[in-house]
Amino acid sequence: MLTAPALPGLTVVSHPLVQHKISLLRDQATPKKVFKELVDEIALLLAYEAMAHLALEPVEVNTPLEPTTGQRVAGKKLTLVPILRAGLGMVDGILKLVPSARVGHIGLYRDHDTLEPVDYYFKIPADSAERDFFLLDPMLATGGSAASAVTSLRRAGARRITFLCLVAAPDGVNRLHATHPDVAIFAAALDRELTSNGYILPGLGDAGDRLFGTR
Ligand code: PRP
Ligand code: URA
Repeated sequence: MLTAPALPGLTVVSHPLVQHKISLLRDQATPKKVFKELVDEIALLLAYEAMAHLALEPVEVNTPLEPTTGQRVAGKKLTLVPILRAGLGMVDGILKLVPSARVGHIGLYRDHDTLEPVDYYFKIPADSAERDFFLLDPMLATGGSAASAVTSLRRAGARRITFLCLVAAPDGVNRLHATHPDVAIFAAALDRELTSNGYILPGLGDAGDRLFGTR
């Protein structure tokens, strides 16, 4: 269940289950273990919607009764690319849907003063031009991290990139779309605004800290 774009490039997955789970995720009383489980579940549901556009090809199958022609997802294996560290929390849920997906990694953190991304790691599978990439990060705040990660993927040859996040701020959606207009953005929620130090309001706090218990 999808909501028509409130901002260009953005699709909000408005399915009641997703909205229910996002509210649980926002709650500061939600413990770390449940937080991780919810991130997994919401990521799976977002990915299901984002995969509606994957190309299919015919495949011959022998049922116990007769041969038939079915369909399968065409092309090279889908590649998931979490932005470290919080994006890691979204990988397991999506791998439940697509166990054969490859997993690359992009290491980025936001400089506390400038809020601009600083990159420290990049590794993705070969043959990037022929793969579909799902770039994963729970939070799209200023959009600096996502835009920089897409630039790195493009430099490595990636052509088809979809960005999946749990909570997006209008500034982040606008910046990512302005920098990379061909990247579709899927989110579970579009929030109101950013604080002066770049946190999303109402948001859910620091996703990395809540996932990994570092605060
Ligand atoms: C968070 C989040 C995104 C980024 C979003 O990571 O996981 O990567 O901030 O902010 P932006 O849209 O303004 O760039 P953070 O930099 O806190 O690093 P961490 O995952 O290591 O905690
Ligand atoms: N990163 C987070 O983890 N949370 C925010 O609200 C903004 C950026």
